[in-house]
Amino acid sequence: MNPLNHVAIIMDGNGRWGLKHKSSRNEGHKAGLKTVEKIIKEFVKQKIKHLTLYVFSTENWSRPKQEINYLLSLLENFLTSKINDLDKQNIKLNIIGKKNFSKKLNKLLNFSEKKTSKNSILQINLALNYGSKTEIINAFKKISKNKDRINEDNLAKYLQTKNTPDPEILIRTGNTQRLSNFLLWQLAYTEIFFEKKLWPDFSEKDYLRIIKKFKKIKRNFGNI
Ligand code: IPE
Ligand code: IPE
Ligand code: MG
Repeated sequence: MNPLNHVAIIMDGNGRWGLKHKSSRNEGHKAGLKTVEKIIKEFVKQKIKHLTLYVFSTENWSRPKQEINYLLSLLENFLTSKINDLDKQNIKLNIIGKKNFSKKLNKLLNFSEKKTSKNSILQINLALNYGSKTEIINAFKKISKNKDRINEDNLAKYLQTKNTPDPEILIRTGNTQRLSNFLLWQLAYTEIFFEKKLWPDFSEKDYLRIIKKFKKIKRNFGNI
């Protein structure tokens, strides 16, 4: 049975779900947040240590302003209302990506990280204004600034996921098979599950089906 420490998720399909069910992309984002809450509960239950969620990519800035504002306000409301709860559950929040949002949101993100920094049952990396290419370039810049040797260990040390093992599983919902600039280095040997369902329709049951399948995979890592 394969050990499992880290699952990464590209939560795609909110917009299409919202248009289909409520004639509004934003309603899809709202519904997607419910799935996030369900999945976090399941991770705690299953005792998985690390979860990385792709929330907002560097490319998502090209969306209409009102959608971006809605998404960021959802995030703000979520953290404001749930951070105590997450903290009580011993969950640690870690932001990857660049915090260049409003002063208020940046402050809330810093506060949430600090408040939960000692927690240990589950670490949730929220990828926010995240792009993997930028992350890798920044890591090389730090290596060069510190005059470190360029090797795999040093590069990994300067990535924003430095405290997280590479994911064993990547799930992308929304019936699209691409990585969209997510964790390009960290996914080198990850098992990838592309799911047809849109993120708001994704359930604990779907997640458990994936885990079951993953446990039986023969992971070769180049060996036979
Ligand atoms: C993913 O859902 C959430 C974000 C990118 C923030 P989308 O908004 O991309 O949903 P679709 O792919 O347009 O349906
Ligand atoms: C990836 O979804 C980003 C997030 C889920 C946050 P997108 O919907 O932005 O990806 P593309 O643009 O279709 O590849
Ligand atoms: Mg999408």
